[in-house]
This record gives sequence, structure tokens and C-alpha cells, in this order.
Amino acid sequence: MGFSFQTEVVKEGKVSFAVSKLETYKKSQKEYAPSGAPVFYNPIMELNRDIAVLALQAYQRSLKRGIRVCEPLTGCGVRGIRLAAEVDGVEKVVVNDISREATKLASFNVEQNNITKIISVMNEDANLLLNRYAAPRKRFDYIDVDPFGSPVLYIDSAVRALRDGGLLALTATDMAPLCGVYPKACVRKYGGKPLRTEYCHELAVRLLAGCLATIAARHEMGIKVLFSHSTNHYIRLYASVHYGAKQADISIGKMGHILHCFACFHRETAEGLFSYLRQECPECGSQLKTAGPLWLGELFDEAYCSLIEKDVERRHLKQEKRIVKLLSLVKNETKAPVTYFVVDKFCDKLNLPAPPIIKVVEELRNGGFQAVLTHFNSKGVRTDASARIVKEVITRILTI
Ligand SMILES: C[S@@+](CC[C@H](N)C(=O)[O-])C[C@H]1O[C@@H](n2cnc3c(N)ncnc32)[C@H](O)[C@@H]1O
Ligand SMILES: [Zn+2]
Repeated sequence: MGFSFQTEVVKEGKVSFAVSKLETYKKSQKEYAPSGAPVFYNPIMELNRDIAVLALQAYQRSLKRGIRVCEPLTGCGVRGIRLAAEVDGVEKVVVNDISREATKLASFNVEQNNITKIISVMNEDANLLLNRYAAPRKRFDYIDVDPFGSPVLYIDSAVRALRDGGLLALTATDMAPLCGVYPKACVRKYGGKPLRTEYCHELAVRLLAGCLATIAARHEMGIKVLFSHSTNHYIRLYASVHYGAKQADISIGKMGHILHCFACFHRETAEGLFSYLRQECPECGSQLKTAGPLWLGELFDEAYCSLIEKDVERRHLKQEKRIVKLLSLVKNETKAPVTYFVVDKFCDKLNLPAPPIIKVVEELRNGGFQAVLTHFNSKGVRTDASARIVKEVITRILTI
């Protein structure tokens, strides 16, 4: 194939493509260090790409017209190629990478899949590329930003290169800042304070969505979060972008803070960027800790999730089971309260064994509360019951 490194062919979805030989950057049986490869490809991210295919198809179906797509950080080209080959109604895809080797491999893969008419491969900085498309009649319907670490460096250019109503997908793998291990880095990059709570993955999605909302607002654009998920080592956000100062104001109105008590697990939201933040826990008097500013709006749209769900079966994706499970959990979360409780956290504190999570959900419902599982944590429950009630329910189950 004329590359300075060894390659092999792999298959994902409907397409086959060449990647740098996986063996050469294997860390253990099932673990790869893809950033060490001459051209990036991470097999673990197949699920992420499967969902991108489904999410884009659902979006295209709602538009009912041909769409233009951009993947500004493409590596070997797999994501852009899959979107072109597997999503009906895709008319044009621009894939790009700053690495010459990557774009050589991506071009080869585009040719092998006979889609040179739809896909253009570019070799430049992602922001330069996106800025060239940030003009009327040049903009994209969908931009998929899937970088190393944080997507924040590309958000400004991406929103400007999107049409009114366009869809932006963001992957973030920098979980240490987002989950509060490096809070200063999170404030620097995302403009909000994280907290190392049991629901830090939800906070991570809300920090990323908040960052997007504030960047979009500077351009007088609002956002709607249609779908999001936290999987393996990353989070992913799908949000549509809507032009107009009013739309921007509505989005900014969905920003706020989450206050958390590490002593009794009480938490509450404070809506608005400049609202008064309570200092003392109303339940136990301990000091409350603050996360934010972050997005307090919806993280999933029910109708959009249903559209995605309807499309899964016919595709026979390798990751189908995991996707179906994820969607069934997310669908229940669309109307559920902000943050979730993790049963094990209470049990550790109470020095009690953890009861089955489903029992906790049932008992809360029997008590007249809303209670659903969450895809963010298999031991998590979203409920409108207070921390005190959840604790009482757990203790009751264990003493019956
Ligand atoms: C995580 S990989 C992309 C993986 C790909 N999206 C996928 O689904 O397989 C990130 C890629 O971004 C490229 N990259 C890094 N900085 C860039 C920049 N400033 N502009 C364009 N590409 C860049 C790297 O060469 C690398 O191939
Ligand atoms: Zn408290």
C-alpha cells in the first residue's frame, strides 16, 4: 500500500479499511495505546462511531433532505467513511487531519470504499479548515469533533461552521479534569468547576454542554442537547445549534450550579449564572461544595432517542446489545431529575451490604417517588426523593 508502517484491514459497520497494525501498539490482551500508532485508530471507539451513525441518521430523517458533514480530526478516516457509507442522505463529507500520514491512509481508505465522489480528504489544522467553511452556503449540517483529550479548542470554529439548526457531536476523553481530579484544568478549559462526586460523569457532560452553550452564545446562537452518553473512558455530546440572540438567552438561562453535601449526600441545583449559592447543607448543616457554572438543561431528547432506537435493529451492528441497553436506560432518564444517587456510597457510609439497585427503585416508587436507573452508573438511581429518604429506603430494605 506504500506506507512507512505496517497496516492491516479491519471491518466496522458496513466498511472495511486499513489501519496501522494493531499488534504493534498493543498494551495488553484487550488494551491498545492508539496514540502511539503512526495513524490513530482505536477499536474501543467502535461503539462511539456506531452511535454517531445512528445519531446522524436520526438527525437526517428529521431534516428530510441531503446533508453535508465534516470530521475535522479524522485519523485513518473511519468515522467520516462510515458516515458517508452508512447514513442515507449524506451528500458530502469533508474529512481532515493535520498529520500527513493520516490523510494518506484516509485517502487510501476512501478510494478502497469507492466513495471518492462524496468524501474530500484535507490535510490542515482543524480550526483553519472549519474557519474556511464558516460562511453562508458553505456551512455544514453536522460536525463531528473527536480529538485526543478535550474538544474545547475546536468548539468556537465548529459552531461558526454549522448551519442554523446544525448538529454538533463532541467527544471528550480528558476525564481527569472533568471529573475533578484536576479542577484547575477544568476551570481553565471548560469555564466551570468540577466536583469529585459519585455522579461526576454526569457533571462532566454538563460542564461540556455548559462550555458549548456559552461559546455558542457569544455568536448569538443557542443549543439543544439531543443526546449524550458516558461510556468507557469518554463522554459524548450531541447538540443542535440555533441562530438568534433569543435562542442564546434561552440556553444561558439553562446554566447554573449544583451544590453538594459530602456529609449526607444532599444535593440541589441553583438556576442562573449569578444566583445566590447556599453555603450550608439544609439537611445536616455541613458546608456545601459547588460545581459549575454548568448546563442544567436536558441531556437527552425523548423523540430523538426514539428515532435512534428505531434504527438500531436493521443495522446488525457488532455493538448492538450494548447500544440497545444504553438507549433503554437513557430513554428513562430524559424526564428524570438532575444527578443520581449511588447506592454503594450510602452503604459504605452506613457500613451495610448494598441491596440490589432494582429493589431500591421499587421501594422508592412504592413510596410515591419517581425513580429510574441511569446509564451513567449501574448502581445509580435518579429520583425526586431526598438523600435522607434514599438512605431510609436502603436501611429499610436491609432490615426487612
Ligand atoms: C483521536 S484521533 C481521531 C480519531 C477519529 N476521529 C476516529 O474516530 O477514529 C485525533 C486526530 O486528530 C489529529 N489532530 C491533532 N491535532 C490536530 C489539529 N490541530 N488539526 C487537525 N487534526 C489534528 C491527530 O493527528 C489524530 O489523528
Ligand atoms: Zn448534608
